[in-house]
This record gives sequence, C-alpha cells and structure tokens, in this order.
Amino acid sequence: MKPPNHPMDRPRGRARVRGLAAVLAAVAAVAVGVAMPAQAASTLKASAEARGRYFGTALTRGDLGITAEVNLAAAQFDMLTPGNEMKWDATEPSRGSFNFGPGDQIVSFAQSHGMRVRGHNLVWHSQLPAWVGGVALNQVQGVMENHITTEATHYKGKVYAWDVVNEPYNEDGTLRQDVFYKAMGSNYIAIALRAAHAADPDAKLYINDYNIEGINAKSNGLYSLAQSLVAQGVPLHGIGFESHFIVGQVPSSLQANMQRFADLGLDVAITELDDRIQMPADSSELQQQGTDYGKVVNACLAVSRCVGVSQWGVDDGHSWIPGTFPGYGAAMMWDSSYQPKPAYTAALNALNSGTSSPSASPSPSSSPSSSPSSSPSPSPSSTPIGGACSATMKTTNSWPGGFQSEVTVQAGSASVGGWTVKWTWPGGQSISSLWNGTQSVSGSSVTVRNASYNGSLAAGASTTFGFTANGTAATPTLTCTSP
Ligand code: XIL
Repeated sequence: MKPPNHPMDRPRGRARVRGLAAVLAAVAAVAVGVAMPAQAASTLKASAEARGRYFGTALTRGDLGITAEVNLAAAQFDMLTPGNEMKWDATEPSRGSFNFGPGDQIVSFAQSHGMRVRGHNLVWHSQLPAWVGGVALNQVQGVMENHITTEATHYKGKVYAWDVVNEPYNEDGTLRQDVFYKAMGSNYIAIALRAAHAADPDAKLYINDYNIEGINAKSNGLYSLAQSLVAQGVPLHGIGFESHFIVGQVPSSLQANMQRFADLGLDVAITELDDRIQMPADSSELQQQGTDYGKVVNACLAVSRCVGVSQWGVDDGHSWIPGTFPGYGAAMMWDSSYQPKPAYTAALNALNSGTSSPSASPSPSSSPSSSPSSSPSPSPSSTPIGGACSATMKTTNSWPGGFQSEVTVQAGSASVGGWTVKWTWPGGQSISSLWNGTQSVSGSSVTVRNASYNGSLAAGASTTFGFTANGTAATPTLTCTSP
C-alpha cells in the first residue's frame, strides 16, 4: 500500500498557461543570459564544475519543444534526467515490447549540449504498466531482469548513473510491498542492482527515494539496507536524495545524513530538488527558498562524496509541483517568465564561496564538514600507539542537540583479526545510528566491535566506523583491544 501522502497518489497535470508577454520576456531573458560575459562563476554548471560537482535538471520530451526553457537548461546545467521517458510505462508498455524513442531524444539533446545523463529509472512501483501486476509471482523476477537488462544495455555507455531502484521505502522504514517485493522479498533490490551492473558495468548504480534527506525512520531503513548491500559486495554505488522540499523545511540533519551514507563508501547526490511554496508566494517565502537552496548546495559541498545537485525541472511554469500538490507552486530557481529568483542567486553564491574538497574521493573515508552552520571539534581523542590496536575519535559535524563522529581504528605492529573500542560518555550523550561496527551500550558505557567485513587489519592498517549521536559533541578517551 502506498502512503496516503505519496506524491504519485495526487492528480497529475501541469500549469502551461503562458501569455505572449511571458514568452517575449522569456526570450529576452535568455538572450541577456547568453550575452553575458563567459565567467567561470556565472552559471550553475560552471560554478559546480569548479567545485568538482555537476548541476543537473530534469526535462521531459514536451519540454524539449519549449525554446526558452531548453535554452536556459542548456546554459545552466551539465546533467540531465529524463522526467518520464525512461520509466517502465514508457519503455516497456507491453510485455517484451520496448520503446526507447522518447528516452533517446532526451539522450541526444543531452549529448548535443554537453550534458551527462542520469538514467531514471529501472524498477519502481509507480508509472509501472498494469501488465506487470498481472504477471505470475514466480515470473516477476525474470520479467524484472529482462526489463533491466534490455534497457540498461540499450543505454550502455550513455548514462552516467542509473536510479536502479526508485522509491522502495515506506515512511516507517519498511520496504513497500509492491509486486517486486511480493515476488522476491527484499532480495529484489540486490537482484536488480546485479542485473544493471552486468548490463552496464560503468554506470553508477543508485537507490533513489524521497523523505530520506534527514535522519529519520525511512532513511534509517535505507541505511541498514545500504550497509548490508555494501557488506555483501552488491554493486550499489550511490544514494539519491530526491529532496522535494516544502519551503523552510529542509531537514537540519541533511548533511550528516548524506555523510553517513558516504561513509559506507557510496556516492550521494541530490537528485530531484524542488522547494514548494503555498501559493501565492510572497517575497519573504522566496527569500526563505533562497536560504533553503543555499543550505542544500552547501550540504552537498560539505560532503566530499556528494557528486552533484539536480533540480527537478527548470522554471515554475513547467514544474510538476502545481499539478501534483494542488495549491503549491513556485518551487524552481526561475519563475514562469524564466527570471532568476533568490534561490538561483543563493545556489550560485553557495557554489562560488568557500573551498570545500572536491567530490567523489575514491576511498570510503569521510571528510570533515565545512558547513558554516556546523562546529566540528578539531581535537581528536586517541589511545596510545603500541598495543594491539589504537582508536581515535573526531567530531565531523555538530548541530544543536546532536553531532556526528568518526572513529579510526588502527592495528599496531601486528595484524589483528578483530577489534573492540570502548568509551564512556561524559554528559549523557547517546548514539542514534552507528555504521561500520556493532555497538552495545550499558548506561554511559559504549562498546563497539568490528562489523563482519572490517575486523581484519594488517599491521599498521586502519578502518573507520562512524555514528550520529544526541547531546553535546564530546571526544572521550577510547580503549582499543583485539579481538
Ligand atoms: C514525476 C514527473 O515529473 C511527472 O511528470 C509525472 O507525472 C510523475 O512523476 N519522484 C520521482 C520522479 O522519482 O520520477 C517523479 O517524476 C517525481 C517524484
């Protein structure tokens, strides 16, 4: 069952009413944009590239016919997601009969404008043709694998990344009981990832969902799954945070949440950003929207494995929001006359200020936060070197009432076959989520043992585990023993 507030349950439709004046204003606005001197910092894509990221958008085939919109998209964005054209209902409308024409049009537009493509998507309970629901459960796996293999093979070498599984989670952190789950249980996700990897070994493979941007039950469910997929060596490479926000409601734990997934060795990306406002939008709401867009961009810049940000659309006149969330609109960085809004300026300013580390470090190690809103503790605590192992804790992020830390465990002069790190919290702190280790807690005493996959360390080698916690950031004295 879908949750009652799922966006896909709402009526679809788009506000397309535009007067001649708006069209003329739009053309003029784009002409001005094109005439601007080519500075590295004058477009989202140039500024994002200077920070080792991309800035993307989503377009449908219908959008491709709207000159002002595509000109703006081509000028500002270097990554493109097809709005609908690669979904199952578009690509395999009846069993075994594939149609890649509309998706190909999106790909060729991207290629002719120097944009990469995020493939979206291979497996999703929504926009799924009715015939899939009628397949005998013992044939669903074969049907799913054939769909993935055929589509990912068709687009092999043309997509940077695939949203292999889209929106698999319920709000409470359990998996949706869709046809794929009913046929294969939670294994369908690993099966889908493996099929996609076999078809296109170079594509980055993502799980993508909404309402997983903050640390909450839903993102915790996905976190546990991601952790276990990584531990089993399933080809999962990234997590997509859709980020369909309401103005003023960007979760404060966005950065910490992306960081914990990054610490598993995964890329992270903001995949479908919009920030809707109850209409009519007033100027303070548009300013707040700017603050929101700045926060999202800064969160991505602060996480070294955050590869980029994509807005779900270009301008307010062609966004999916008004048709899906009645009464809401104005969610994009440009208004319906293609004029930039405070959100555009804020996103560009965020990209152009600061000196965060480039994205996509190949190793699963985390980078300290560089967000101005966080106050990481510079002084790590450590056990003396010389024993079987040593452990060092550092705070990588903090916010009112919580913090995130990373512990590096290093083997001494001999290899270890397992490790145990212990400490005592000084002031009532409590761990809310821990990764790359298993914890047991007794009052203020914490014991963390290695996970199944990171216990063996060669002499001098190290590994990390991390956690988010409630309370004031602290770096207590650690002991490390082996095993
Ligand atoms: C939306 C499209 O923008 C609409 O045109 C369509 O009617 C419904 O789907 N999460 C996703 C996207 O992963 O595929 C959805 O796109 C928006 C929510």
